[in-house]
Amino acid sequence: MHSPKVDFSRIPRSALPALLAAAPKAELHLHIEGSLEPELMFALAQRNGITLPYADVDAVRRAYAFSNLQSFLDIYYAGAGVLQTAQDFEDLAWAYFERAAADKIRRAEIFFDPQTHTARGITLDVVMTGFTRAIARAERELGLSVGLIACFLRHLSEEDALATLEQLKPYRRQLLGVGLDSSELGHPPEKFARVFAQAGALGLHRVAHAGEEGPPAYVWGALDTLHAERIDHGVRSLEDAALVAELRRRSTPLTVCPLSNLKLCVVKTLAEHPLPALLSEGLKAMLNSDDPAYFGGYLGENFQQCFAAMPALGAADAYTLLRNGFEASFAPEADKARWTAELDAVFAAAAAAG
Ligand code: ADE
Ligand code: ZN
Repeated sequence: MHSPKVDFSRIPRSALPALLAAAPKAELHLHIEGSLEPELMFALAQRNGITLPYADVDAVRRAYAFSNLQSFLDIYYAGAGVLQTAQDFEDLAWAYFERAAADKIRRAEIFFDPQTHTARGITLDVVMTGFTRAIARAERELGLSVGLIACFLRHLSEEDALATLEQLKPYRRQLLGVGLDSSELGHPPEKFARVFAQAGALGLHRVAHAGEEGPPAYVWGALDTLHAERIDHGVRSLEDAALVAELRRRSTPLTVCPLSNLKLCVVKTLAEHPLPALLSEGLKAMLNSDDPAYFGGYLGENFQQCFAAMPALGAADAYTLLRNGFEASFAPEADKARWTAELDAVFAAAAAAG
């Protein structure tokens, strides 16, 4: 995609780091529990009288050496155990919003995992009270636009997901949509057909993780059975030419998370990441951070590291990824137009500076 107003050939690669840092962004794939930094984990553990199985913050960081998705999820669910009170959830979300604002994020559609908390006896009222307060403050003080997406844990049963959707109904107005996350292999999208249909009937947006570790068949299932409007990750879609054609035909956004893919060994190096191939296939890819406290970088860092590691990507690709992020969001059209105009202005200024 190209802006009619910008001559991208005038922007040298050497200008990209500053341009990427300055550009307005959308974050559409961020698990708020995955933004729990070790420092906050220790502070909340102390506040709540919880003993962590780590001596200190450095020991926590050393434990973040993952071999696949499951090896990460085991540590991530354990870490979320320090979240006990509404204040804890507010502090977690506020810490993320401050980082998001520093990264020039204008719109954040954040995931949370209700079952991770209700299974520990933490009520949805506690969770939602904390998030709602932090979101109101972020909109007021940081000018951030925020949406909340409740994800069902796919390693649990559909009955559990259906009961969770019932519990979420009183909070319907605070929710933008539903998603599907956790252990992908062995838990195909079809397992959640009924709960996604019910969520759709409530007017909730639908997204789903698919094609992160799972095969292209899971992406087909997310599209055709769950009616997912966006695919979270989707990098394995490239293995199926018919799927690539269908994603292109539908303009289905893919919320790609390169540093996550690197840390979870989906790719061996960033240089081998399929992001350039996704773009050259004409797919609506965008960049996201997934679980930045665990994967070593927030959204700005994902942009910087990708453009440093992938010489095939230039200013036009940066623009496409950033613009796709706004277009893929579920924000009101007037807001999207405003953010896109801001994006155009930043790129036009970079082209003028040449
Ligand atoms: N939950 C948090 N991060 C996730 C990921 N990358 N894939 C699946 N479930 C997740
Ligand atoms: Zn994710």
